[in-house]
Amino acid sequence: MATNKLKLGVLGSGSGSNMQSIQDAIEAGTLDAEIAVVITDVPGAGILARAARHNIKGLWIDHAPFKTKLEGKAEDEVIRVLREHSVDTVVLAGYMRVVKPGLLNAFPQRVLNIHPALLPAFPGLHGWTQALEYGAKVAGCTVHFVDTGIDSGPIILQAAVPVLDDDTPETLHARIQVEEHRIYPEAIRLLAADRLEIRGRRVIVTD
Ligand code: GRF
Repeated sequence: MATNKLKLGVLGSGSGSNMQSIQDAIEAGTLDAEIAVVITDVPGAGILARAARHNIKGLWIDHAPFKTKLEGKAEDEVIRVLREHSVDTVVLAGYMRVVKPGLLNAFPQRVLNIHPALLPAFPGLHGWTQALEYGAKVAGCTVHFVDTGIDSGPIILQAAVPVLDDDTPETLHARIQVEEHRIYPEAIRLLAADRLEIRGRRVIVTD
């Protein structure tokens, strides 16, 4: 199947296991893409060490004065770096900030996120803990296009996992992450193959 080799810019604040799953798919030859640059807002974040192990350029950008959003000078700098690396698709992978119209308008319909819950249930922080505390019997994860809301953009793929009686937040999150690492590369594969059509709130996967 014909694909356009995507140039990905990955933004992350944490350990980078989702970035790792995307890079693993690229190296396995199952995803026609390249991670051109990894950007973090957290000095020393694990995602930088993972990037270095794969010879991917990684850098920290100071996001001050904001703590929970990407805006202002930091947003300008992130966009500049993404453009400098010819990025066409922005992948949020454990990026603990709300992105604003500046980034979204710079990459229209080209910003993706993975959320650790079955949206629209449990948006925001620690979706797996929210599911557990609510008493949900099924949890999961969602890959979606990013819009100006919080975890509210059109859904691309979802995967469900059971919530077990003896789950802790850690065991449930680990089960969800197995699925994250499967569906995030898959969603990017569909994008690379030009098989995602946004129709209003719905994303249709075309043949
Ligand atoms: C994942 O659970 C993801 O869904 C959420 O943050 C976590 C990031 O994990 N947005 P990692 O940094 O990819 O390991």
